Amino acid sequence: MERLSKVMSNYGYCSRRKAEQLIANGKVKVNGKVVKELWTRVEESDLIEVEGRPLEKPEKIYIMLNKPRGVITSTKDDKNRKTVIDLIPIEKRIYPVGRLDYNTTGLLLLTNDGELANLIMHPKNKIEKVYIAKIKGILTKESIKKLEKGIVIEGVKTSRAKVKVRKVNKKKNNSIVELTIYEGRNHQVKKMFKAVGHEVLKLKRERISFLELGNLKSGEFRFLTPKEVKKIYNEVKK
Ligand code: URA
Repeated sequence: MERLSKVMSNYGYCSRRKAEQLIANGKVKVNGKVVKELWTRVEESDLIEVEGRPLEKPEKIYIMLNKPRGVITSTKDDKNRKTVIDLIPIEKRIYPVGRLDYNTTGLLLLTNDGELANLIMHPKNKIEKVYIAKIKGILTKESIKKLEKGIVIEGVKTSRAKVKVRKVNKKKNNSIVELTIYEGRNHQVKKMFKAVGHEVLKLKRERISFLELGNLKSGEFRFLTPKEVKKIYNEVKK
């Protein structure tokens, strides 16, 4: 059993908030009866009708995008900036799984499968997110330990992380660091480095679980294969 509004948004009909409005306004029927209670729960077999039309379970879509710099991770933008959705010319309503900052590049998943999106994002499922950061300065052993053990950001400690220094440029006083985290708090990577005194100059997400960009160029996208979808479901349900 799942909340009606959640099912409506998971099916890609509209946002959760819009679904609640439609329900409250008496526009939604379950098995032929108007329901107005926002907490209504439904089963897969229930017939849902919205504004007189049956709600159909959509074909699931899973996309990997190599997000370029200067694009926002959102389905729309008040300021009319380019969004990741603008880079994917398909009719179906999809949305990003988590968020990459405006200037962060790399692997972003987009889907209309709300269940998988939530499972990937939930920290309890410990899905690896691997970032490559170019940072100002050079990490000390102590800083590496702190990052790996967890650091308090806005009152909450980050979970364990892995740090690998890939390159150090002493002359230019910067380094390339691989940071693997299992959560996805807002600006988490930048905040973690800031907490140990380093500014992030460039940031790219290289991998989510076993999914890697491969030869996908900046701005390009591809559909995940059924095999990859099955595998990622297995990863989150481990
Ligand atoms: N952490 C950040 O700070 N920014 C991102 O875009 C992703 C993770």
